Amino acid sequence: MTPATLTSAMATLGPDWHSDWAWDHYKDVVASLSRELGLRRFCEIGGGRDPLFTPAEIAPLGIDYTVNDISARELEKAPKAFRTACFDIAGDLSAAGIAPAQYDLMFSRMVFEHVRDVERAWTNVHQLLAPGGVALAFFPTLYALPFVANHLMPEWLSGGIVKAFYANRGEATDDPKFPAVYDWCFSSERRLKPMLQRAGFSDIHIQPFWGHRYFLRLPVVRQIDDALNARAARNDIRALTSYAYVLVRK
Ligand SMILES: C[S@@+](CC[C@H](N)C(=O)[O-])C[C@H]1O[C@@H](n2cnc3c(N)ncnc32)[C@H](O)[C@@H]1O
Repeated sequence: MTPATLTSAMATLGPDWHSDWAWDHYKDVVASLSRELGLRRFCEIGGGRDPLFTPAEIAPLGIDYTVNDISARELEKAPKAFRTACFDIAGDLSAAGIAPAQYDLMFSRMVFEHVRDVERAWTNVHQLLAPGGVALAFFPTLYALPFVANHLMPEWLSGGIVKAFYANRGEATDDPKFPAVYDWCFSSERRLKPMLQRAGFSDIHIQPFWGHRYFLRLPVVRQIDDALNARAARNDIRALTSYAYVLVRK
């Protein structure tokens, strides 16, 4: 049976409060929405060199998969089997010659924190979706400590720290660090819903997640942080989430 709302669709997937669940299940959530709602034309926003699905996973499903990115250099590294579309999700779509209502399911992973005008991005997503289409964004939220720190630090400093701690991160590697601006990167429904309604959506679901893996190498700090996050989750303190899924249906 088709779920009546995105809230009921998410509830059937039994999400946990911890962000590990968000990372482990994002692909399943996208695949399940596609199956349950019969959504076959996918556009991954900011998929770049590392789309969520592989061509081998998509081929047997008969899905039409487009990888979008603002960067042509990123798209050059995307799997050749996927169609690519180079444009700014927060840009002027008609000037870029992007046709409206062409996708059934648009989704992104760790992209919206890099977008300068997220309200414009959601308005564009509404324009690009066919009627009944669904969009899903998975992004880090303020005011989790690692993201507040990243937000406040100049890029040269946060980039240097990431390079020092994570040898596989950096421009020359397969996992570069993109500057983050955190526009509208919240999980509070009170804050987000009016903006998403202005963008044209009425069926809206925001799934909050707490906790993160940034303190894995700092045992005592990690234990304290884990305990605080568990408590924040029990009390649904949205100002302390670390990630969110935002789901909208046109
Ligand atoms: C942190 S990477 C995430 C890549 C991939 N989604 C993943 O999960 O590995 C962010 C990506 O978003 C792209 N991006 C940033 N701003 C964008 C925009 N306004 N429109 C489209 N793509 C954008 C970047 O070029 C980059 O490829």
